[in-house]
Amino acid sequence: MGHSLLCMMGFFLLSTVIRGNAEAPPKPTVTLQPSRTQIYSGETVTVRCEIQGGEGAQWTYEWRRGQASIRPTSSEYRIIRAAESDGVGYSCRGRRGSFYTQWSDITTLRVTVPTKPTVTLQPSWTQIYSGETVTVRCEIQGGEGAQWTYGWRPAKLNTPPTSNEYRIIRAAESDGGGYSCRGRRSSSWTEWSDITLLKVTAKPKAELRADRTAVPVGGSVTLTCSVNPSSSSSSSSRWKYYWYRDGKSFQPVTNGQISVSEGGLYSCRGGRGEPVYYTEDSESVRIDTTASNRPVVTLYPNWSEIYRGETITVRCEIHGGDTEWDYEWETNSIRKPPNQNEYRIRSASSSNSGNYRCKGRMKSSQHKTTEWSDSVTLTVSDNKPRPVLTVSPSWLSPGASVTLNCQVEHPSAGWSFYWYKAVPDLSEKSSSYELLPDGSGTAQDSYIIHGQTHTAGYVCRAGRGDPEYHTDHSQPKFVWSADVHSAASLTVSPDRVQHFTSDSVSLTCEGNFTEWRVRKFSEDGRLSDCRRMTGSTCNIDTSESDTGVYWCESGSGEFSSAVNITVQSMLLYIYFLDLNDLDVT
Ligand SMILES: *[C@@H]1O[C@H](CO)[C@@H](O)[C@H](O)[C@H]1NC(C)=O
Ligand SMILES: *[C@@H]1O[C@H](CO)[C@@H](O)[C@H](O)[C@H]1NC(C)=O
Ligand SMILES: *[C@@H]1O[C@H](CO)[C@@H](O)[C@H](O)[C@H]1NC(C)=O
Repeated sequence: MGHSLLCMMGFFLLSTVIRGNAEAPPKPTVTLQPSRTQIYSGETVTVRCEIQGGEGAQWTYEWRRGQASIRPTSSEYRIIRAAESDGVGYSCRGRRGSFYTQWSDITTLRVTVPTKPTVTLQPSWTQIYSGETVTVRCEIQGGEGAQWTYGWRPAKLNTPPTSNEYRIIRAAESDGGGYSCRGRRSSSWTEWSDITLLKVTAKPKAELRADRTAVPVGGSVTLTCSVNPSSSSSSSSRWKYYWYRDGKSFQPVTNGQISVSEGGLYSCRGGRGEPVYYTEDSESVRIDTTASNRPVVTLYPNWSEIYRGETITVRCEIHGGDTEWDYEWETNSIRKPPNQNEYRIRSASSSNSGNYRCKGRMKSSQHKTTEWSDSVTLTVSDNKPRPVLTVSPSWLSPGASVTLNCQVEHPSAGWSFYWYKAVPDLSEKSSSYELLPDGSGTAQDSYIIHGQTHTAGYVCRAGRGDPEYHTDHSQPKFVWSADVHSAASLTVSPDRVQHFTSDSVSLTCEGNFTEWRVRKFSEDGRLSDCRRMTGSTCNIDTSESDTGVYWCESGSGEFSSAVNITVQSMLLYIYFLDLNDLDVT
């Protein structure tokens, strides 16, 4: 029934066409599938010729494609993977036998090549900090208005529906990397965009610098806040700076550099973007204002050099007013003093050497300080000082007094003196010392002995401070007696003062004692013992170095009388004799 109706209508139409020279033949229309006149290269489009009311009739079709004719063809013309050359006008007409419809209007197809997409960042900083927010966008120039789907690299952005932009909220360092995209329409893709690099670095910390840490009287301090690295020079990425004093925001402007004259604990941070992304706060910088009081560092005692083990107090004194202060120290010594006004060094060592200076901080106003005091130098010597004793005269004469003199380095620096008599001690191969009467801690560096008649040895040492520090003992020094009538005596054989090299000389100790040693004090000031003792006798094959003063010391601590021995070269002696002969003549 439907079929016969269509047949009838076709017949009717045809008959109208043939019959009606008065009526114009029908005019087909060209339609596109998909129905847009602008497509992108690579897309597929179907061009169709439709004859209104001509359905069911057995048409053949002719096509014009630009200037060219295409035949024979059907009602549909399919362009697979359109190229730019397919962008021309299309028209058609139908034919049935010798009957032609009119040509359709020309439908022009435009085939465009989409430009390569670009990935843009919003804001357009290629370096952001973790926690900032950035939008990654795929833009296809010339592709506006078309329905695109998008492909992304990295692939993690390809979660459907794939969109032309991604917002990375609170970026992590793992969000850094290269981004690229492409677009798809129908089944064809654009090329990949170039890669846009995004760098996400750890949250930066602002840095606060001050040109000085104390406000000079009537002046100010310049503070500079910066964020490093300042990611980009473009103005949109410029930081604003936020300032804080004692934890409170105080500065209305957002400059990176400000001038302040008030004391306090200052810090800053940077911020940029919308909403504002803040950096970490800077370290705090303490800015003080200056009090007029001037502190002084003093050393107690004030010796210019002190020795290892001594006790000394370094003190910071601030005069003027009854302000209460906290104290700060600055020193280049290895050991830092604690923040008190007094620093007691109980057993000094060279590690305490250095320059010390101090300042006061007002207890009532923590940002008000004095200026630094002048530096005071503390020198701690690791040497143990050893005094030098002199004894005068060296040879006793009846009735004369013996004067001892003890010399130390830096003599004015608080020393007192200790005086000892040497007591021979043969077992120790040395001597022990016995304090002389009233010989303990004298202020004088000399000591006088009256009525000394026998050979004797002395030492001294010095001490100072509280607790008292002692020097080493001096080398022993002697006063000699030639008196052979004392309890012990020394005899020389051959019995003369002058000897010649290679003489055999024996020195014999005499007295009611069993043990002896023979000692020598040579011209160069050295003390030595005879090495070749036979009983109470010392034997020497003389050489010039044997010149010196000799005496005996007994096992029970007695000194004998002393003798000079001079050893001379025989040749020299003869030479002198000749000179004397010449003098005589
Ligand atoms: C050490 O202090 C005393 C007063 O205590 C003073 O007379 C002396 O000049 C000072 N010496 C030095 C080297 O400062
Ligand atoms: C020597 O000492 C002994 C006892 O120590 C004594 O008996 C003797 O008299 C002394 N001789 C002389 C000469 O002093
Ligand atoms: C030993 O020599 C010194 C000078 O070198 C002299 O003053 C002293 O009197 C001499 N002593 C004796 C006992 O000869």
